[in-house]
Amino acid sequence: MNQAREPVRFLVFSASLRAGSLNSRLAQLAAAEIAANGGDVDLAAMGDFDAPSYDADVQEVDGFPAAAEELRDRVMGSDAFVIASPEYNFSMPGSLKNSIDWVSRFSPQPFNERHGLLMSASPSMAGGNRGLWALRIPLEHLGARVYPDMFSLAQAHRALGKDGQLVDARLGDRFEQTIIAFMDLVEASKHYPCVKTKWVEYLGEHPDPAIDRVE
Ligand SMILES: Cc1cc2nc3c(=O)[nH]c(=O)nc-3n(C[C@H](O)[C@H](O)[C@H](O)COP(=O)(O)O)c2cc1C
Repeated sequence: MNQAREPVRFLVFSASLRAGSLNSRLAQLAAAEIAANGGDVDLAAMGDFDAPSYDADVQEVDGFPAAAEELRDRVMGSDAFVIASPEYNFSMPGSLKNSIDWVSRFSPQPFNERHGLLMSASPSMAGGNRGLWALRIPLEHLGARVYPDMFSLAQAHRALGKDGQLVDARLGDRFEQTIIAFMDLVEASKHYPCVKTKWVEYLGEHPDPAIDRVE
């Protein structure tokens, strides 16, 4: 489906460093889906962002590594980001956390107020979803607006066909719908800021100007 959109640019990358990565294949599929639905895509590789272990002494003496500057530039050059991350021991790969730690030291802080969509692929039945809950924590702490829905591909070694598409058509629809809904939100946030002034009432709360929130 291709719909007319205002310009929106998405940084898409897999957090896996290995050549045959399932998450890189999922990231490529996400990039293609975004492009097919009218978005601009910056498809990156984790190798571009992989930095030496964070060390405040190194930062003070040598400054930031080029890989951290690269991730900062690519995040700030986009309206939103999509990360396809492997699950390592129920969490995110150390290399991804390390890159986030480096980037968090820049001012202004690049993730602040940027929308993010998280996805994962794993040969397991859980699809790496537990790792994404861990990944949400530093990103949300840094002010990223992490999309509530996440896409985790279970048994990814079978779920991804040789043609790079999802074998199961219904799962393919779900994947597309998740991406389109995320794109709609990013587009609205960037181009229709009037929604930010709308009062939002949360269930269970009585309307009260003192506690009403805007988003
Ligand atoms: C150090 C390490 C820890 C892993 N821990 C998990 C895990 O907790 N859950 C899981 O589903 N898979 C786990 N795996 C398997 C990965 O999901 C699998 O290797 C996957 O293919 C990695 O993603 P990639 O193909 O994008 O590189 C682990 C793999 C490694 C190397």
